[in-house]
Amino acid sequence: MAYRGLVPDSYLDSLDFDLRAERFRESLATGKGETYVAEGDQGVLGFLTIGVCRDPELAGEPVGEIWGIYLAPRHWRRGIGRLLCRRGEEMLASRHYTQAVLWVFDGNQAARGFYEAMGYGTDGASKVLNPGAPLKAIRYRKRLTSAEPSAPAIGAPTAVAEL
Ligand SMILES: CC(C)(COP(=O)(O)OP(=O)(O)OC[C@H]1O[C@@H](n2cnc3c(N)ncnc32)[C@H](O)[C@@H]1OP(=O)(O)O)[C@@H](O)C(=O)NCCC(=O)NCCS
Repeated sequence: MAYRGLVPDSYLDSLDFDLRAERFRESLATGKGETYVAEGDQGVLGFLTIGVCRDPELAGEPVGEIWGIYLAPRHWRRGIGRLLCRRGEEMLASRHYTQAVLWVFDGNQAARGFYEAMGYGTDGASKVLNPGAPLKAIRYRKRLTSAEPSAPAIGAPTAVAEL
């Protein structure tokens, strides 16, 4: 849903849900990234994954990465992404990272609007990914300040828990 109209339908339609779920379980088990879920009364609303910055040119710098924030579409625009993003930044800052970076598809206007509202700006880096067709991704970056308060939101999750 998030990438419909951006990534080719043929690629999205070919994705195997069970296989993706299995890969996700495997990646959780490796412990390379850290995943947090936003939970409401009806269960999981979305998740955030943070980790070390995977860009070789930033290796050794105090830069952490937001690997992704994904919410079920029915929960978009209720302030939950903001809550998860702030939590990720707090966790990275608590590990002494002074900056956060993240990658989004150039054409993902919703995500770009979101991250810009969260205070991120493009830092000039780009790369081409190939989810069924070559797509440009661009990097955003933000200086972290310690322990930014999480904004309360209408219908906000009742808990953010680590998996
Ligand atoms: C991007 C995403 C994480 C945003 O989460 P969200 O909970 O919907 O965002 P919030 O409600 O916290 O929005 C916070 C602010 O971001 C901005 N924003 C959010 N969605 C936006 C959109 N579609 N267009 C422009 N600005 C947007 C707004 O300024 C918003 O504040 P407002 O609602 O008071 O105007 C969510 O829409 C999502 O999961 N999208 C699909 C997956 C994806 O593309 N993830 C990013 C790649 S990792």
